[in-house]
Amino acid sequence: MASVRIEASKAYEVIIEKGILERCGEIIRNAAGGDSVCVVTDDTVDALYGERCVASLLSSGYRVEKFVIPHGEQSKNASQFIRLLNFLAQKRFTRTDTVAALGGGVVGDLAGFAASCFTRGMKFVQIPTTLLAAVDSSVGGKTAIDLDAGKNLAGAFYQPEVVICDYLTLDTLPDDIFADGCAEVIKYGVIADAAFFEFLKQPVRENIEKVITRCVELKRDVVAADEFDNGIRFILNYGHTVGHAVEANSDFTISHGKGVAIGMCAEARAAARMGICSADCADAVESLVRSYGLPTRSPYDVRTLTEKALSDKKRRGGTIGVVVPTEIGKCRVEKFPVEKLCDFIGAGIE
Ligand SMILES: NC(=O)c1ccc[n+]([C@@H]2O[C@H](COP(=O)([O-])OP(=O)(O)OC[C@H]3O[C@@H](n4cnc5c(N)ncnc54)[C@H](O)[C@@H]3O)[C@@H](O)[C@H]2O)c1
Ligand SMILES: [Zn+2]
Repeated sequence: MASVRIEASKAYEVIIEKGILERCGEIIRNAAGGDSVCVVTDDTVDALYGERCVASLLSSGYRVEKFVIPHGEQSKNASQFIRLLNFLAQKRFTRTDTVAALGGGVVGDLAGFAASCFTRGMKFVQIPTTLLAAVDSSVGGKTAIDLDAGKNLAGAFYQPEVVICDYLTLDTLPDDIFADGCAEVIKYGVIADAAFFEFLKQPVRENIEKVITRCVELKRDVVAADEFDNGIRFILNYGHTVGHAVEANSDFTISHGKGVAIGMCAEARAAARMGICSADCADAVESLVRSYGLPTRSPYDVRTLTEKALSDKKRRGGTIGVVVPTEIGKCRVEKFPVEKLCDFIGAGIE
């Protein structure tokens, strides 16, 4: 069992423990109090873990309602968001009650945003069931839904009362979805922790508690320094400039994790070509990414990727920031005039 304390505008624990879902009721009782809990989940996760979660909440004396969305990114939209707000109202939830997100990043982002809005903010708890949600989306307080114009365009910074990470739930994750989370895990090693990067040469699945704990600690440090994403938090976007462009250009048939895997390789290679890191550093990133069965090469050309990257929200006026490794475990933000981005991406994918 491990626990990491996050110090943001609100302090909270991330509890990482095998089998802890069975005790989520008492943990939520201690962290959030209240009378009622709305469990928000998707159909896949509901079939696997819904009953266990609800049973624990009932045995802790809660009134429990469940709101289930179809699985997949398409559910992180405005109509599910409004449906959830109306559901909370119909079921007479109040500000002192809790929304518990049981699932991956889609459920967490949607449920968290609804919790931040309903009655101007009710209690919120994250119960991540994907590796990506455990190491990334459930910690740090970013919530959002997608709009027609793009991903994550409407949302709020809204911290949970507690994060309950039962890594036993990851056993049912398909390998492919598990690998997506591994891309974000590798990202932490590259940007912030060389020893952890080395450690990842052993399979993540065999060291899952240690891996999740280290990633959450690294995210904690970044979030504590820059909760509202005006500075250092930007380094978490390593691999994401090219990654988002790949993802968007595929109409999201290439998953986020696979886009980030390709993006990390491209951005490291570009950094090496520009003399920011060594060729060995870029090779090390690529070989670790490949060892997890993740893709390393962009299927799209420079022009296509640059166009997509420039429509991204990381652009600030005439410049765009890209996170580049300077060596394994260290990184910095490189700012380019937008017209130079094409050269950077070109250097990374050629
Ligand atoms: N808020 C943040 O800081 C942040 C950070 C990174 C990503 N995100 C968001 O997270 C989302 C991606 O999250 P994700 O990769 O978890 O996707 P997801 O929530 O869609 O989950 C992936 C799939 O796995 C299934 N699943 C979940 N848990 C399972 C389990 N234990 N066993 C079997 N199947 C399971 C789900 O039903 C779904 O089909 C994106 O929308 C992204 O924008 C948010
Ligand atoms: Zn990501």
